[in-house]
Amino acid sequence: MTDTSGDVEGGGAEPSGRTLALELVRVTEAAALAAARWAGRGDKEAGDGAAVHAMRRMLATADFDGVVVIGEGAKDQAPMLYDGEAVGSGRGRRVDVAVDPVEGTSLLARGAPDAIAVLGVAPRGSMWSPGPAFYMDKLVVGPGARDALHPELLDARVAVVLDAVADALRKPLRELTVFVLDKPRHQGRIAAIREAGARVMLRTDGDVAGALMAAREGSGVDLLMGIGGTPEGVIAACAVQALGGAMLGRLAPQTPEEAEAIRAAGLDVSRVLTADDLVASDDVFFAATGITDGALLRGVRYTAAGATTESLVMRGRSGTVRTVAAEHRAHKLREIGAAEV
Ligand code: FBP
Repeated sequence: MTDTSGDVEGGGAEPSGRTLALELVRVTEAAALAAARWAGRGDKEAGDGAAVHAMRRMLATADFDGVVVIGEGAKDQAPMLYDGEAVGSGRGRRVDVAVDPVEGTSLLARGAPDAIAVLGVAPRGSMWSPGPAFYMDKLVVGPGARDALHPELLDARVAVVLDAVADALRKPLRELTVFVLDKPRHQGRIAAIREAGARVMLRTDGDVAGALMAAREGSGVDLLMGIGGTPEGVIAACAVQALGGAMLGRLAPQTPEEAEAIRAAGLDVSRVLTADDLVASDDVFFAATGITDGALLRGVRYTAAGATTESLVMRGRSGTVRTVAAEHRAHKLREIGAAEV
């Protein structure tokens, strides 16, 4: 396990949920182990379903009193991990929970890089609920550029955004790497980034992984830009809060129906949201486990004895980020009735 900053807070027994971080990583490991069996098999629903079951089962053993704010959808669409579902053992701190058992279901189905299992936890009442809003325009940076991320940058020309981030990081533009989802809606921005002289990292899916890389110094990505899922925006905000980065977001409905549903729900499409608006606390926890190999994390690898996983787990209060490499022994887990490998 590698600590990238100290975690020296003292106090009595479990003063601040320090062990919760490790409970959470067990949850994303369980989801990743279940999902990885489906990597490259072309069936994203089956992979997602296996991960949802495994995550829910492990969540029930985690000591907190949680309610799902970002889940698999409304109760009538999702039988498990639906928005509003109570999760956790019911003991311990009262929290909001954001889950995505497979972030990048198409990546998983294709065996493509950077499908991950993710989980964010924050104090009860602190997570923003996006209701019917599916899409959000986002900018994410790490701590080195957080002061440069003024709200007006969301409407600025691409070259202006890149200059602001490059200046803050004291890098020439040609060394700047911008994560963008490879979607038709982004072709103009991708061309503008290249024209400005910066580099683009393109992925067809998975902008939570992109946000994590942008928010984490030294990951090779300096900025995430573009329109992705709104629930994914709230999940990313948990990680941004834990890592001390910055984020801007604004709802970006992609169809008249989505725009109408947002209006009917009383949400403001013109409002620029910060990481604090999305998750109003830095007392957050975030865990991610690699399913497929990627730029962010190694995926699940099968061994003679079982499988290995690689995860990141962070706690906002201390700022500690841990990389957890785990070896899972199939026969032992079977003996104790724990998660399947
Ligand atoms: P799923 O894991 O639910 O398939 O989401 C993948 C994803 O790429 C997200 O990372 C991203 O925020 C969103 O979908 C983008 O949506 P769309 O593919 O509709 O543009």
